[in-house]
Amino acid sequence: MELFGCNFPLALGLLAGIVALLYMYAKRRKSVFKNFGIPGPDQNLIFGGTLEFLRKGIDFENKNRKLYGDVHGEWFGGIAMVTVYDPDILKEVLIKDFDTFGDRLALLDLDNSPLSTNLFSAKVDTWKRIRKICSPTFSGGKLRKMIKGINICAEKLTKNFIRAGESGEEADVKEYFGAFTMAAIGSTGFGIDIDSQNDFNNNFVRETKKVLDNAFLSNIAILIIMLFPELRPLVKWTGIGAFSASTKRFFIQAVTDMIKQRKNDSKEERERRVDFLQLMLDAEDDGADHDAAKTGDEAAQKSANKLTAEEMIGQAFIFILAGYETTASTLQYAAYILATQPGVQDKLAEEISSVLGDEEPDYDNIQRLTFMDRVVNETLRLFPAAPGTSRYVSKTTTIKGWTFPEGTYVNVPILFLHRDPDVYPEPNKFNAERWEKKSEINPMFFLPFGHGPRQCIGMRLALVEVKVALVHVIRHIRFVRLVDTPDELTEFKTTGVLQPKTPIKLKIELR
Ligand code: HEM
Repeated sequence: MELFGCNFPLALGLLAGIVALLYMYAKRRKSVFKNFGIPGPDQNLIFGGTLEFLRKGIDFENKNRKLYGDVHGEWFGGIAMVTVYDPDILKEVLIKDFDTFGDRLALLDLDNSPLSTNLFSAKVDTWKRIRKICSPTFSGGKLRKMIKGINICAEKLTKNFIRAGESGEEADVKEYFGAFTMAAIGSTGFGIDIDSQNDFNNNFVRETKKVLDNAFLSNIAILIIMLFPELRPLVKWTGIGAFSASTKRFFIQAVTDMIKQRKNDSKEERERRVDFLQLMLDAEDDGADHDAAKTGDEAAQKSANKLTAEEMIGQAFIFILAGYETTASTLQYAAYILATQPGVQDKLAEEISSVLGDEEPDYDNIQRLTFMDRVVNETLRLFPAAPGTSRYVSKTTTIKGWTFPEGTYVNVPILFLHRDPDVYPEPNKFNAERWEKKSEINPMFFLPFGHGPRQCIGMRLALVEVKVALVHVIRHIRFVRLVDTPDELTEFKTTGVLQPKTPIKLKIELR
């Protein structure tokens, strides 16, 4: 008998051989934790704990910690992760031993598109150069100059909420805040007007949402390398990538246009600019230095503080992506908290009025809003927009008696560290007062922006944006819960960012 032109017994034999090889390979890779004495669940050979994670959501991790303790091994498909709750080990991994733990799991770096050459995904050698170039964007001095643009965007946000209040419509608050953060990143990062606040379906918002919605298991390239990480070179070679062709086209074209336009500006105009785009252009590669950097010559690398044209596109893309989603998400959770805790909302309005009066918020005066700071911290504790981060183990290393095998990842379970009942009594309850004694909380249990050299680069900008937006909005409107607004948010989508399963809709009341 023939099957697809092959002899049937031969085809069957081949198939059985492939299955047996796959089984042996999967079995061998699963032995890694046992060999190093790391406890953990006995998980599916191919899918690891992924199927259970998709079914159970956040209960999956709660269960594993209870059963296996503060250091345990888990498999996400074929990716081995050692989940760590011990603050001493976390400090070593995130801060002290950067030479061993410099990289993180990068699921978006899957093709040779300029979008993949970004700071988030970059391997440590490239990362050092890019981070050094990009960091000055977020200095206090630069942020002070960006505040004008943020205030203009926040005024428009307030007008949009007032309109929702007047019309009595239920507001999907993430849409409003997303439109705001996209406009703010356009203004602070690139000096352009993104019309997202007049058009919630603006093409920047639409394309960014497409990336985020498609950034996990629904993406075929990500799925393949999660199940078989060894196939990464093959996936890269196919060019499927983590982004659709239209997304790549859109961002590459948009950034190329911004660069072209800026280059046509007069010299005085360019000198006046303090934004991220100008910073990158000032570091634009003229060819020579960057080639030197690639040779591996240390001295040449140090002098080569340059970005290629492709790298400029990659950084612009990650700033838009990260700047939009995380900050909008934090603001939507803040609005939910204020709506469900009217006492907190009143106290915040009272502080804004007594400390700032009619002053426009700026980089310095918002530091005087101590209750605001506590509310934002507690929002980030309960709902960290990035619920986890990771670090790659580049060489087998022992910390506090635990051996972390080379080739695995340390999983930093931010969301679960933030809900540890020993650190935060009644961890699921909003309690701004916890932050009265912030210095008593171990920083390893409060990681909304990660920690160490690879901490979020946009942290200060994000905090300024969140606080300035809240000042403007709370002066004019009040968030009010609907009859079906839950007392506690417990259902989240199982993607890389913390998104509620159902959009948060609230009533807007004018003050
Ligand atoms: C509330 C808002 C934000 C939250 C909660 C957040 C959270 C995070 C977290 C947890 C990480 C990983 C850190 C680590 O592994 O230690 C990260 C990295 C990063 N974030 Fe943010 N982020 C926010 C806003 C922003 C903004 C506004 C930008 C850019 C304008 C940004 C750009 C980045 C970049 C580029 C990285 C990679 C940094 C590196 O590897 O050097 N983020 N963020």
